[in-house]
Amino acid sequence: MNRREFARLLAFSGAVPFVTPNVEWPKADKLPPTPANPDEKFWRSVREQFVMPPTLTMLNAANLCPSSGPVLDMLYQTTKDMDQDPSQENRAKLGDGRENTRKLLAEFLRVTPEEIVITRNTSESNNFVSTGVDLKAGDEVLLTADNHPSNHTAWQEKAKRFGFTVIDIKVPNPHPGFDYYVDAFTKAITPKTKLISFTHQTSTVGDVFPAKELCRLARERGILTLVDGAQSFGLMDVNLADIQPDFYSGSAHKWPCGPKENGVLYINKASQSKIWASIFSAYPGRVGVSRTFEGFGQRDEPAMIAFGEALKLQTQVGRAQIEKRSRELTTALIEGLKNVDGVKIWTSPEPSRRAAVLSFQPGNLDVRKLSAALYQKDKIGCATRGGQDRAGLRFSPHFYNTHADVDKAVAAVKKYMASGV
Ligand SMILES: Cc1ncc(COP(=O)(O)O)c(C=O)c1O
Repeated sequence: MNRREFARLLAFSGAVPFVTPNVEWPKADKLPPTPANPDEKFWRSVREQFVMPPTLTMLNAANLCPSSGPVLDMLYQTTKDMDQDPSQENRAKLGDGRENTRKLLAEFLRVTPEEIVITRNTSESNNFVSTGVDLKAGDEVLLTADNHPSNHTAWQEKAKRFGFTVIDIKVPNPHPGFDYYVDAFTKAITPKTKLISFTHQTSTVGDVFPAKELCRLARERGILTLVDGAQSFGLMDVNLADIQPDFYSGSAHKWPCGPKENGVLYINKASQSKIWASIFSAYPGRVGVSRTFEGFGQRDEPAMIAFGEALKLQTQVGRAQIEKRSRELTTALIEGLKNVDGVKIWTSPEPSRRAAVLSFQPGNLDVRKLSAALYQKDKIGCATRGGQDRAGLRFSPHFYNTHADVDKAVAAVKKYMASGV
């Protein structure tokens, strides 16, 4: 619309110009190529891709990560384009964009686009499995006691409806080692066991589970596996071709730093005949399992396209480098907190048994007050865990964090442990 047409529209309608201030954010410099051994300068340039103010230290990736500037740009521009011209003709390209995200997801997880369903989040993906697999009275499902409610409460509730039995494998603290879990699942399997589900990295204390070994154990016995990847997707350099689960779930808004309300459900080609779709409506995906499992009616396609942009940024930085960096920052946090009097760390001292989720009990301090003080006075965002079971604070650093964030967080905890909150 030119200026004259715009003025005429205003005269006719008495409309007020649609002006939204602050929809723009400062553009970061282009991200340099990732060096073989990235230094703090490189990671600071990664941090600059995000719109968080430099004074804010976010250590809560396990809960929600920020989207980067490029992801926000893609989300905003694509939404604007759609709403400026919502004709079916203009929107046709959005369907192509959604399929492009499916391809990017497949490359990211090292599987095929025909095995990818773009869902709303991990909760929905997990529930599609617990609702969609045919289970009945007499069947058993093995879970771990540390599964998230979307993969624990959901199974328990569906067991009431469908009549199957849910059995929990205990999760000792500290992490007892990968062999413990292979052993514990082996012993718990019976001829009635139909499905095993566990969390790749737990959100409670960050225990990493031996995904490949547990999936192999199950596969050899004809048992299905659901790996909850909410805490591994976008953090670990996950290779589903190697792990070979039947189902794997993840969320865009966690470690991939994508938009909210987007997620993934991987359904192995070999397992697609063993699960029913839960939703049937219009506008499914175009390939493979998405043709039957992704007809959810109208979707937020700009968000799905922005999800692809988030995966591109991570791929550009380097998946292995992101995992290495997040692990290194976690180790630095543990080393720092170990030396603070009164702090008890719940997360494994053994680096191979953890990744980038770290929980600790700050002595007798009230964790809610401590978390509030960290945020309000020190500008550090983290999560709390109440109750009796491994209560405390949770730090989960990611590739947008720096060693300065680690030093700041350790110093702040030390200060409150000495002076109280
Ligand atoms: C292990 C695990 N599974 C599932 C979820 C649910 O994720 P969402 O809220 O994105 O569905 C979470 C969230 O923290 C989680 O940690």
